Amino acid sequence: MKKITLAIALLVAPAVAQAWPWSKDMSEQISVKPQESVNPANPGMATYPEHSVPVQGTASFVKDMEAADKQKNPVPATQKSVELGGRLFGIYCTPCHGYAGKGDGLVGQKLVLQPYNLTADQTKQRSDGFIWGMMTFGGAVMPPYANDLSPTERWHVVNYVRKVLQQGGTVQANVNGR
Ligand code: HEC
Repeated sequence: MKKITLAIALLVAPAVAQAWPWSKDMSEQISVKPQESVNPANPGMATYPEHSVPVQGTASFVKDMEAADKQKNPVPATQKSVELGGRLFGIYCTPCHGYAGKGDGLVGQKLVLQPYNLTADQTKQRSDGFIWGMMTFGGAVMPPYANDLSPTERWHVVNYVRKVLQQGGTVQANVNGR
């Protein structure tokens, strides 16, 4: 009986089982991460091969939500950017925030803290950098998406939230091949 009680306690309290925060389990593994050295005696990134040049992009290293909030959106909301953002939103965000971004996705309904309605005034008044930061760092319940979406891709999603969802639009039905 005691064992069962303990097993239940571990299941309902991930902190006791040292499994908290569960949302980072997939990213925090022993595998070698991008830009990480395989040689523990020589940590840090290997030097670039000769003649390598940086590619154009919007890589950024913001340290926290406060710094993210202050960022200016470097990606113009062109049709192409908005379309790309829509495709990514359809894949990564609809399970919780729903097709119209109203926070009514099927997975979201199962969470203790309901996903926010991204078309509400609260999010409309947020900066682009804040929305970008939520994807980068996650929230109390929302998982971070910095491993799945590149910095530039996150700005495309921001553009989509602004130009389509917050204007009353919804994810197109053909996203995800449906
Ligand atoms: C697993 C469910 C889940 C997924 C998937 C998810 N979110 Fe969230 N999101 C939440 C929850 C829950 C909150 C409430 C705040 C918190 O967790 O702290 C939230 C809050 C937010 C907020 C804050 C709004 C505000 O005004 O404070 C933004 C912006 C946001 N999500 C954007 C996104 C975007 C963009 C994606 C896709 C890349 C995404 N979310 C994917 C669950 C999710």
